Formats: sequence, structure tokens, C-alpha cells
Amino acid sequence: MSRPDPAAAPAAAPTVADEDAAAVHLHEVGHVYDGAGGPVAALGPISLTVPSGTFLVLVGASGCGKSTLLRLVAGFEKPTSGTVLTGGAEPVPGRGAGVVFQQPRLFPWKTVGGNVELALRYAGVPRAERARRVPELLERVGLHDVADRRIWQISGGQQQRVAIARALAGDDPLLLLDEPFAALDALTRERLQEDLRRVSAQTGRTSVFVTHSVEEAVFLGSRVVVLTRRPGRIALDLEVGLPRTGIEPDELRALPEYAALRAEVGHAVRAAAA
Ligand SMILES: Nc1ncnc2c1ncn2[C@@H]1O[C@H](COP(=O)(O)OP(=O)(O)OP(=O)(O)O)[C@@H](O)[C@H]1O
Ligand SMILES: [Mg+2]
Repeated sequence: MSRPDPAAAPAAAPTVADEDAAAVHLHEVGHVYDGAGGPVAALGPISLTVPSGTFLVLVGASGCGKSTLLRLVAGFEKPTSGTVLTGGAEPVPGRGAGVVFQQPRLFPWKTVGGNVELALRYAGVPRAERARRVPELLERVGLHDVADRRIWQISGGQQQRVAIARALAGDDPLLLLDEPFAALDALTRERLQEDLRRVSAQTGRTSVFVTHSVEEAVFLGSRVVVLTRRPGRIALDLEVGLPRTGIEPDELRALPEYAALRAEVGHAVRAAAA
């Protein structure tokens, strides 16, 4: 477990060597929006290095800058100060990262299956393999029954699951997920958390996952970062030493270390929001 040391020297600018090692590197990143009523300092300054294979979960109060941070990492916005690198280079929107937004953004004129198929096509998966993998991905998110429906014929929670299946379909080294499970019922949410934990342990894809849920953060994260209120800075940076493979979800939740981590993160979230 590690915490930011306020006395430590500021993080050094990224060098070529650590560009290779770090999937995501934020150096002194700040973001200020031009709001209608004047500038809005949304994030930072924040420095963060996320090595490949990390499942990083960001937790923080509403409006503290979590979506802003994800948008910067996805390349949809440029930071107003500091540097963001993914895989050693400036992020390019639509390249190198599978993204699940807070609001699902799907092609409404396509079917559920069609949306997932398109993501596979973009990932360069050949037609025959696509035909096999679409039902497999839909089964994984519990949507196999509605594969032929149009997007406007399914519920909001189902739309969110299409977005998740689509992000899982690509083979981008980086997955960025902005509260993907927030609109789901408790049972589906738990099932998808378990799936995502297993899939991420199998594939080792680097992930940045945003949530309000302390429980979800500790269950999914190999590392949990708690942000302060706006402009979001790091309040807690915790390595989660829980086993990632060879353990059933219920066994994991029953571990005393799990309860201790949940209490620690919960405490930090409450303190950061106070
Ligand atoms: N385009 C924008 N123009 C002006 N202000 C913005 C813009 N986008 C976001 N903000 C403000 O920046 C702050 C951070 O927003 P952000 O969406 O990153 O928060 P968040 O942590 O994702 O919140 P939530 O948990 O509610 O999704 C908020 O105060 C928000 O109102
Ligand atoms: Mg948000």
C-alpha cells in the first residue's frame, strides 16, 4: 500500500525509458474549462503513472474531475497544463483505447449485434470470426436475447451493456470506463463486475475505471486512487494487494483484507468530499 508523500519531490518529467513501461503517464496535469460564468478549474495539478497491466479505479465525489481525467487520457480534450501520454505518445481520440462513456454512445440505426460487430470490424477481426464472437460478447453482458433489436428498442441499462461489449470487443491495450455499471440493477452489476475482474486478469489490459462505489473500487481495482473535490487532486493512492486470479468472488469479498481496504477507501472518500 502506498500513499502520496507530500514531502516528496514532484514527479520527474517522463523520459523515453518510462514511456515504454507506463501505459498512462500524467505529469502535472491540470484542466480548466471556459465556463459560461468564468473559468472552471476541474482537475489537478495531478501526476500519475499507470504501468501496463494495472486496473486503476478512480473514486471521488460528483464534479471532482473524474470524467475530465478520462477524456484527457482518451485524447478528447487537451490539458490546459501539463502532459498526458499513453503508450509513450500523446493520445489520439479513437485510437489505442476502448472507451465506455458515462452515457452510452451507440449507433441507434444499427442493431445491438450490429454495434458490437462494427467494433470488431474496426479492430480488424475477419468476418467469420466476427460472426462467432458477436454472440459470445453479447452472452457475456447478458444481451443475447436482444441481439436483433435496434438500440432505441432497448432500455438504458441494456444500452450501457452494449457499450461495454463494444469496448471489450476491441483489442486496444487500454480500456477507459466511466461509471459503466451505474445504471444497472444490482444483480447485473455484480455479474459484470465479476466478469470484468476475470477478463482483466486474463488479458492484462490496462484499465482506468471511474466509479462512485467504494465496494466496486476495491473489488475491481489493482490500485485505487481517491480524488479530492474539484479541482481533483490525489487524496489517496492505494495498491490493492488482493489476489487477482484463483479466487471466487465470494471468497474474495469474505477476506478480512477486503473489509479493511473497503473501510480505508471509504474513509478517504468521505474525508476528501468533506
Ligand atoms: N465543458 C465544460 N465546461 C465547463 N465546465 C465543465 C465542463 N465539463 C465539466 N465541467 C465542470 O468541471 C467539473 C468536473 O467535471 P467532470 O465531468 O470531470 O466531473 P466528474 O467527477 O466526472 O463528476 P460526476 O461524478 O458527476 O460524473 C465539474 O464541476 C463540471 O461542472
Ligand atoms: Mg463523470
